[in-house]
Amino acid sequence: MVGMGMIFDETYAPFFEVAEDGLYDRSTGAFRVQLSGAATRTGDRTAAYSKRRGLADFGNHVGENAITDLLASGIDFLCVASPDDKHFAAARQGIEAGRHVLIEKPSVLSLDELDQLVALAKEKGVLAKVVYHKLLDPDHKKLRTLVADGVLSHVNNGYCSLLEPKSISGSQFAAWITGRNPGTYVAVHYLKLIDFTFGGRLKSVQCSGQRGLVGPKDGPTWDSTQLRLVYEYESGREAAFDIHTSWVTPDNFPGYVEQEVQFRFDNGVWNGHSRKRGVELTVEGRTPHDLKTTINNHYNGSFLEPWGERSRRGYGIEVIDRFAREVAFVELGGEERDRSSRLAEMAARGYNDLSADRQVVAAVQSMEAILAKAAAGEPNGLVEVNGRHGGLALFLPGRTEPEMLYQGEV
Ligand SMILES: NC(=O)c1ccc[n+]([C@@H]2O[C@H](COP(=O)([O-])OP(=O)(O)OC[C@H]3O[C@@H](n4cnc5c(N)ncnc54)[C@H](O)[C@@H]3O)[C@@H](O)[C@H]2O)c1
Repeated sequence: MVGMGMIFDETYAPFFEVAEDGLYDRSTGAFRVQLSGAATRTGDRTAAYSKRRGLADFGNHVGENAITDLLASGIDFLCVASPDDKHFAAARQGIEAGRHVLIEKPSVLSLDELDQLVALAKEKGVLAKVVYHKLLDPDHKKLRTLVADGVLSHVNNGYCSLLEPKSISGSQFAAWITGRNPGTYVAVHYLKLIDFTFGGRLKSVQCSGQRGLVGPKDGPTWDSTQLRLVYEYESGREAAFDIHTSWVTPDNFPGYVEQEVQFRFDNGVWNGHSRKRGVELTVEGRTPHDLKTTINNHYNGSFLEPWGERSRRGYGIEVIDRFAREVAFVELGGEERDRSSRLAEMAARGYNDLSADRQVVAAVQSMEAILAKAAAGEPNGLVEVNGRHGGLALFLPGRTEPEMLYQGEV
């Protein structure tokens, strides 16, 4: 692991704690996945985790050479779950060392970085993938199934909203939040959902936002953002999507994270609410703080199984399990001489391969550039994608020429 923060506790730890006992896949047979060490900023959480689990020779790597030392310890794959502006350097190091790499969303913050990682992974013959667990949410799978089967036809527009509590910006991420925005952190979930589910070609990106709670009202740190994307499909028809995000929602919000989508098609409407899936819980003195009123039992719930065991399960954990199986398929799924075809088969999976993350990274890079300009006194930018000027052209009111963010084709 690179980074052992909140997402490690929620999804990686429960996966590894099951996988160390062994997994089975028809194509590979039985195999074990053992978490052997971590590179983090302070080493405190690594020490606490290895102590809690009684892992005597667990690698606790800190300091400048942390990742180098971790890679030298003989690992097969590296999971990168550090703050998003640290993903690229860690992933590049892992791939350069010939290790498979799984990166938390957002994968990287620019297309130049993405190009480098994709090329390097190809050269080194390893998988380079990103975690978008919402694609494995059963509700989103159903949406995609209805679209793929032609039951829902041509999406025209839609909105998505994801609101995080103040505790995220105020304490959880306080150490690295300066200059960051909630769109990069969570709108990416919906960027990927839209991109993967509906396909199409991204044409333009716009973004506005508000400041004054997490940081100064004229500073570079954003409380909330409103992102708008326009796509075009093979038919030549367009669709527009609005994605609203915030990390300053009150902490006593009944469901902690608020997630809602609506997509309007030629022949239908999809309304989804990831929080209000049916359960409403009240416990005196505990909800909505340490227990949530409307609980998402599908993401990474902890359960007492009917047969008496305790378990953690959900799509947030399943997505890590999938990656481990993909690595196992490449390394253990047949003869060595066929490894490259197994690698190509796994790298062709667009739901998580970095090579299929281009339009999402393009949207993130555009959003960040628009917000940076707004913070520097030039609001209301618009990025045209693969237009007259090249890959990503940022247009600002009052300027005659665009600023090129990426020259090549997105
Ligand atoms: N899939 C999801 O829904 C989801 C949810 C939360 C977070 N995330 C992603 O996971 C990543 C981490 O988020 P988090 O919530 O766990 O954050 P966090 O702040 O709780 O933890 C960050 C971790 O990274 C470590 N770290 C910081 N700088 C580092 C460096 N230079 N090298 C190595 N480690 C470093 C810290 O020590 C800490 O262990 C982010 O990219 C975030 O977007 C994804």
